[in-house]
Formats: sequence, structure tokens, C-alpha cells
Amino acid sequence: MRRRVGLLISGRGSNMMSLIAAAKDPSFPAEIGLVLSNRHDAPGLGRASEAGIPTAIVDHRAHGDRAAFDAAMEALLVGEGIEIVCLAGFMRILSDGFVSRWEGRMLNIHPSLLPLFKGLHPHRQALRAGVRVHGCTVHFVVPELDSGPIVAQAAVPVLAGDDEDSLAARVLEAEHVLYPDGLSLVATGRARLIDGRTVFSA
Ligand code: GRF
Repeated sequence: MRRRVGLLISGRGSNMMSLIAAAKDPSFPAEIGLVLSNRHDAPGLGRASEAGIPTAIVDHRAHGDRAAFDAAMEALLVGEGIEIVCLAGFMRILSDGFVSRWEGRMLNIHPSLLPLFKGLHPHRQALRAGVRVHGCTVHFVVPELDSGPIVAQAAVPVLAGDDEDSLAARVLEAEHVLYPDGLSLVATGRARLIDGRTVFSA
């Protein structure tokens, strides 16, 4: 049985497209049932539609507070029978209630080797810190930003002369491979969130 996945985006949606592409393979353990954006102008919305994926917009500005915004998203996700949520460049903080309803069933990708360089500008943080190895992480979402138990990571070298853009582009290529792999681990039950830790099985 393929698990039904909802993708939450705010922007260009390149990770979204990598998940949509992976799910085109019938042997991939998940299918993308819905792409949901908080922004009308997210370029990813058009890309999802072109790929034949249903899309919806929940404008955070049209909802009184975060709880109302999250409830609107929840209704759409449940209405589409979504079982797993993947944040893919989704730029809103989710309420604790939403996060706990999706505990163990919601993933995020962050462009650093967590727990290093949480939050904004991870590539700038990496260059400033002088690390020679950087990368990306797929993790379960918990209320604290970029802090959930890790599902998958990929390392990327920092090269002489790198700036934020060149480093970000190298990491993004790794993200596009890592996110489908991480989703596959969770969709098949080979990575599960148990007592605040990721437990892996064959
Ligand atoms: C990616 O770098 C992702 O790791 C971060 O936001 C960016 C989204 O890019 N969370 P895209 O919209 O998937 O192209």
C-alpha cells in the first residue's frame, strides 16, 4: 500500500518536484495526494499542477490566528486522506497542536547537517563557522524549529571559493536525492519516531 503524502510549500518547490518525480515510480512507497501552499504566488503551485497534482492555497493572512490557519490546513489534508506530511520550503511556524497531531508522520528537510546551523541562512552560518563538510537533513517535525529526530542526512564538501549561492546549489542537489530517500524510510515504516527518537529497522 502506498502512503498518501501531502506537501506543504511556500516557494519554488524544487524539493516538492523531487518528491513528485520519485512518486511517479509505482514502486515508490508513497503517492503525492496534495500540494498545499500558504502563498498564492508560490511558483511551486504551477509546477505541481503541471505535474497533475491537486493543489490548494491556505493564505495565512486570511486566518485570524495560527490555530485557525492550521485548522484550515488540517481539514484539507484530512479531506484528501493524507497520512504523511512533508514540509518542502514551508516558511510558516506550525502550532504545537498541529505538530502533535502529525507526530511521527510529518517530515522536514533542512539544508545543514543538524544539529548544526538551525534556522535562517544555514549556508552563511556554515561558511562563517569554516566547516569543510556541510549538507542536509531530513527529520521528524517537533515543536522546536529544526530540532526533530533525524531520519536521513547527506554530506556535501565546502570547496575553496564557495559563496552562499554556490554552496546552496550543491546542497540543493543533495536535498533532491535525500528527501525521497527519507520519505521512503518513513512511508515503509523502516524509520519510526518512538519515544522522541528515530528507530530504524531493516
Ligand atoms: C530548501 O533548501 C529546503 O531545505 C529549505 O528550504 C528550501 C526550499 O527550496 N527548507 P525548494 O522550495 O524546495 O526549492
